[in-house]
Amino acid sequence: MCGIIGYTGVKPVCPILLGGLRALEYRGYDSAGIALSGCTLATVKRAGRISVLEEALAAGAAGEKVESACCGIGHTRWATHGAPTDENAHPHATPRLALVHNGIIENDRALRRELEAAGYTFVSETDTESAAKLLDSIYGACGDPVAAMLGLDGRLSGAYALAVIFADRPHEIYAIRRDSPLIAAQSPDGVLLASDIPAILPYTRSYYRPDEGEVVRLRADGITFFDANGEKTHPLCTVNWDVEEAERGGYSHFMRKELGEAPEGVRRTLSPLIRDGLPHFGMPLLDDLHEKKGMRIVACGTAMHAGLIGRTYLERLARLPVAVEIASEFRYRDPIISADEPVLLLSQSGETADTLAALRLAKANGVPTAAIVNVIGSSVAREADAVMATHAGPEIAVASTKAYTTQAAMLALLAVSTAYARGLIDEQEARARTDALCRRLPEALEETIAREAELEAFAARLAEAEHVFYIGRGVDYDACVEGSLKLKEISYIHSEAYAAGELKHGTISLIEPGVPVLAVSTDPAVAAKVASNMREVRARGGEIIAFCTPATEADIAPNADFCMVLDENDTTLAPLCAVSALHLLAYHVARLRGCDIDKPRNLAKSVTVE
Ligand code: F6R
Repeated sequence: MCGIIGYTGVKPVCPILLGGLRALEYRGYDSAGIALSGCTLATVKRAGRISVLEEALAAGAAGEKVESACCGIGHTRWATHGAPTDENAHPHATPRLALVHNGIIENDRALRRELEAAGYTFVSETDTESAAKLLDSIYGACGDPVAAMLGLDGRLSGAYALAVIFADRPHEIYAIRRDSPLIAAQSPDGVLLASDIPAILPYTRSYYRPDEGEVVRLRADGITFFDANGEKTHPLCTVNWDVEEAERGGYSHFMRKELGEAPEGVRRTLSPLIRDGLPHFGMPLLDDLHEKKGMRIVACGTAMHAGLIGRTYLERLARLPVAVEIASEFRYRDPIISADEPVLLLSQSGETADTLAALRLAKANGVPTAAIVNVIGSSVAREADAVMATHAGPEIAVASTKAYTTQAAMLALLAVSTAYARGLIDEQEARARTDALCRRLPEALEETIAREAELEAFAARLAEAEHVFYIGRGVDYDACVEGSLKLKEISYIHSEAYAAGELKHGTISLIEPGVPVLAVSTDPAVAAKVASNMREVRARGGEIIAFCTPATEADIAPNADFCMVLDENDTTLAPLCAVSALHLLAYHVARLRGCDIDKPRNLAKSVTVE
């Protein structure tokens, strides 16, 4: 999604803004702009990459301010209202102010009509311009920036993080947020504002997160928060990962680096949850799950796919009924929810708009909520009744990999603890399963990732395909759904995941000679059934690449054109190894096709609009 950066201090602001925008590039964007303070504001914005903006600045678009200004704001825009053009790029400026915005202003049309009637003219198609002009009108009337920002907040509906500089306040930045992330940080040379942590990391590891609807004022010597009752204070948060972790570290893509970090992420995530060799979440909602009638997992995209595999683990081992819901559907379908079925939200970013709305819906209905997030201090983490952190480290690539694996591993551990508490497995088995997840799973993932050369060879067979199908049963179908999303997301090849037994109820009509079909089979209980589905595909000329285990090899390998035998028989661990292989396979297909792997077209890292 869009990115915001702001700085005011003693250093020239331009390089800081451009560096911040680059650090936020991974969120996805299609235009960029900056506004520099002074008694007249200089605004420069361009469609396209940040380098286009840099060229404009180098050509003198901001005049001498490029060197002299020490206060300003910058933005990368991911188009929602209107195409990615110079006019639609942020900042949106009036003679009094310049404003950047992440999110969506839902009452934009009504505001536009009102402002046009008051004499304002609009030059862009964006919803943001109405916020800029409305603030201009309020500030013009009251002259007090804090009151004007609070007044603006009272008039806007939607989700927003806004940063503003006023022409008559040359060294100050004002900001406000609702349902969209924003942080403020103090460094030795000035203060910073950003929509995400990587933008502040070169300067400091400590930051503040303002509450919803609070005005943040940044001056070179300090950050102040205001609500309608006056000044507020906030605890200082600390970033628990290093700058190097947010850098590529020798890899050509963040995605490749990050999928290789999944094993360590699993170790770091699970080890704090073990006490005396058994799972201990230290959180009533999860430690007492065995007493509940069931659970709902609500999430989007890849996080929802981690929920699917988690459901299989929880139902199979702990016999706990679990419903997995797409957050954007859940929130609008008037779901029947009750206090004895807690809602568990999964989210890497903790800022996904639909997941956050689903959380609020559950809470409003008196349903206990827990969240598994990768970003501590995110909105979902702050609002859920209970929070567990995955320690995957920062995930920069748009395509989620290590976050998926750590979420799924945590759900597998939850299945062990719930099954043990229900008396469905004895202590010895609970210990063995806990050990397998904490110790063996990371090793097995490392072994899978080390077989990159085999996956590259498979990738060469898929790189020219127009359509790819993934088939599996049970837990392997869960793996297929994730593998298929990753392929289409980063390689732009159309792909579908099908429950293997469902293929012949319609989709098999699409199988013709040469169509690649990826079969995943790690569960010996259904391997023979998957093998017969593979034969149905082969009989129609489909080319099968299979992923199996030593336990399923006898059924699977003879029916495949190409086969990778994962060196892991455990039916909880092996599907996660299969997903790692599918992630790596998708990566190499996208690489061979020359795709922009870390920033796939039309996608954004953190989806803060619904
Ligand atoms: C796909 C992907 C997305 C996210 C989804 C939810 O690779 O990354 O599908 O999983 O947008 O994001 P979070 O987990 O941040 O809520």
